[in-house]
Amino acid sequence: MRILLSRRTHPPGNFPKPNSEASGVSKIKKPLRKAPIRAAITGVFGYVPPDVLTNAELAEMVDTSDEWITERTGIKERHILKGKGLGTSHMGAEAVRGLLKKTGTAPGDVDLLICATTTPDFVFPSSANLICDMCGIRSVGSFDVQAACSGFVYALTIGSQFIETGKFRKIIVVGADKMSTIIDYTDRATCVLFGDGAGAVLLEPSRKFGIIDTVLHSDGAGMPHLHQKAGGSRMPPTAETVAKRLHYVHQEGAAVYKFAVARMADVATELMQRNRLTSDQVDWLVPHQANRRIIEATAERMKLDPKQVMITINKYGNTTAATIPLCLWDYESMLKAGDKLILAAFGGGFTWGGAYLTWAYDPR
Ligand code: ACO
Repeated sequence: MRILLSRRTHPPGNFPKPNSEASGVSKIKKPLRKAPIRAAITGVFGYVPPDVLTNAELAEMVDTSDEWITERTGIKERHILKGKGLGTSHMGAEAVRGLLKKTGTAPGDVDLLICATTTPDFVFPSSANLICDMCGIRSVGSFDVQAACSGFVYALTIGSQFIETGKFRKIIVVGADKMSTIIDYTDRATCVLFGDGAGAVLLEPSRKFGIIDTVLHSDGAGMPHLHQKAGGSRMPPTAETVAKRLHYVHQEGAAVYKFAVARMADVATELMQRNRLTSDQVDWLVPHQANRRIIEATAERMKLDPKQVMITINKYGNTTAATIPLCLWDYESMLKAGDKLILAAFGGGFTWGGAYLTWAYDPR
């Protein structure tokens, strides 16, 4: 009886070892494994509008004081975007133009632009779309990501996937927010916290440096504690919603604080554990800037020296999706190629997340 054998006479993947004598090859050299392609930040640029709102000025508007704001939050002043017809995209475009110039990138070389924002110019089109148009970036994919103060970490995570897969080679990730449009300047509990600004980074492939790990989390049960009540599809804008001041940020500060302080530290330590990093191996914590006390508690749980923690809250306040790229922009001259950075953010939703990356360049 003839038995028909398939051409494969061994189970898939279980190839017979070569017979060195028969083949005449004494040693088979294993091919060198290349380091994986990672998304490296190869440039950063920030923009804050020229108008400054100080604690002293706020104390003339609501029942507060420089002492209370400084002690409870760490904020001294924040920048506010003024000027008719200027929205979030104006600041995003300023940051992107600066980034293109600084990195010598032609608008036509950009493959994708992602903008993290909670205060888009319009419900549609996206602010990413508008920024591309304002910067001469034509006909490439662009979209907004909405994850409140964690937005930049979310957008960075998305962008990094396109680089790692080899789909794209130059991606711009922007974090931009004009919080002053959704802040009630008669509510002392929220109006002292926020500012306007934008930051942008360029992501490019690298086998040496870049984003090594990211984590994203969310819990929609946090909505009652931090949200904008009206203006969306659940409660569309009416004369009544405007009269009731429902288009402003509603925040139950103490409840949010409890979550924020725990989750920011959780995400930073989660990244350290997953990547077997001890505190002396971490060079920088790049935290979302909502409250100096939250940042300090996070650094303490990571056992980091305060000198390793980026702080910009004193001069910019909470710029929502812009805080992390603005930190990188501010501290860029102190960063060296190979520095290990942990990014950690927490925001409305609730959302929280972080990234572990190695910095890709020395001060220029
Ligand atoms: N000036 C003076 N007093 C004030 C002010 C102010 N600006 N704001 C609040 N107070 C008063 C309150 O009325 C309260 O007074 P009472 O005790 O008589 O009622 C007292 O100060 C304490 O209020 P708390 O809200 O408990 O103050 P707390 O110490 O918690 O600080 C803060 C408030 C700064 C808002 C803090 O809770 C915080 O940082 N929360 C977290 C913010 C955060 O992380 N948000 C997430 C990101 S934002 C985003 O995603 C859009």
